[in-house]
Amino acid sequence: MTPHLPVSSHPAHHLLDALPPSPHHRRLRRRRRFCPPRPRASSSPSSLRCRAAAAAAPQPAAAAARTRVFVVSDLHTDYPENMEWVRRLAVRAGPPGAGEGFDALVVAGDVAETRDNFARTMEALRARFDAVFYVPGNHDLWLRREGGRYVDSMEKLTALLDACSELGVDTGPRTIGDLGIIPLFSWYHKSFDKEKDVNSVRVPSLEMACKDFHACQWPLDLGSDDEALALYFDKLNDKNNDAIEEVKKKSKQILTFSHFVPRQELCPEKRMLYYPNLPKVIGSDYLERRLRAIHDNAKDGAACHVFGHTHFCWDSVVDGIRYVQAPLAYPRERKRRINGGQGWLPFCVYRDGFNPEIYPAIWSDYYNKNRREPENTQLAPWVAKYFSKYYGPPVFAKQTESG
Ligand SMILES: [Fe+2]
Repeated sequence: MTPHLPVSSHPAHHLLDALPPSPHHRRLRRRRRFCPPRPRASSSPSSLRCRAAAAAAPQPAAAAARTRVFVVSDLHTDYPENMEWVRRLAVRAGPPGAGEGFDALVVAGDVAETRDNFARTMEALRARFDAVFYVPGNHDLWLRREGGRYVDSMEKLTALLDACSELGVDTGPRTIGDLGIIPLFSWYHKSFDKEKDVNSVRVPSLEMACKDFHACQWPLDLGSDDEALALYFDKLNDKNNDAIEEVKKKSKQILTFSHFVPRQELCPEKRMLYYPNLPKVIGSDYLERRLRAIHDNAKDGAACHVFGHTHFCWDSVVDGIRYVQAPLAYPRERKRRINGGQGWLPFCVYRDGFNPEIYPAIWSDYYNKNRREPENTQLAPWVAKYFSKYYGPPVFAKQTESG
């Protein structure tokens, strides 16, 4: 998710952050339990792969071969530091699938704002992993730096999926070892937010806070209705129904992934957020219904969903499904040690079975220990302080005196 207001000078660049650094955060940073792929000797960069090569994507050579799946979201490689992070990942030594094991990477959206940076990033990742999976995020569909190259964001979506096909990046379901990996298209809708609004402060409008409303362009029949876009993107998954059933039959465990958030419990409560209306632009009920149908009847510990967008690290189990967010996020967020997890990314969620250890994630750690209180709209102290500093006194002073 973007800080959707001018960044450098406007205080609202903190809109989507939530907590100040604390000793607890520093302890979590030190808990680096999982390592990215071991550095190897550099080899020649991968070249663009033809569509036929993408169709004949490599598989783990033998059932006994070690299969690892790493996850990451929100690469935002328009930032040079983030592109450099991608380039520092170890390049694989030989052709895909020829190594001692099989390493796949799941990229849960928001790779880059321009198609060119997107292709550069995906090509670099293909040189580093035996398989790369991807679903589009909102930033990927922005048009403001494309110089009129696309009529609308749908045309750009097609261009990105074509680029994936050429580069051998998977955008459909596939089984890797015993694991079925299923990308799910999605978009957010306001009615996803079911919790009580914070009314004690004047919150900037969605149109002001969320750049998508200006940086994306949609066909007229999709742009005006709150749920039309969410439904449109959800329906894109229908074409994969048969392939999903095939993957489910062949797999012992299933990993679904999306860019957007499937459940409101996977985002901090409004009173904790610098932008309390954030839940109106992050998630989709259609997505939750779809992934739950896929994971229906899964055995304990065999269902995982990876998402992105909010830049809050997350790892928790809700109703039998493990939900993980592992965002690279913005360089400034990593500097503040709040949301991103540079030191332990990409996160190894699977090594011949889902990794039983929980990812060190500040907010899901908090909610694993504390009950959610959506009825409580009293601002957290740091949010009350922020609003008081940048937006003047609260509308109802008594409600925000403590938090
Ligand atoms: Fe996003």
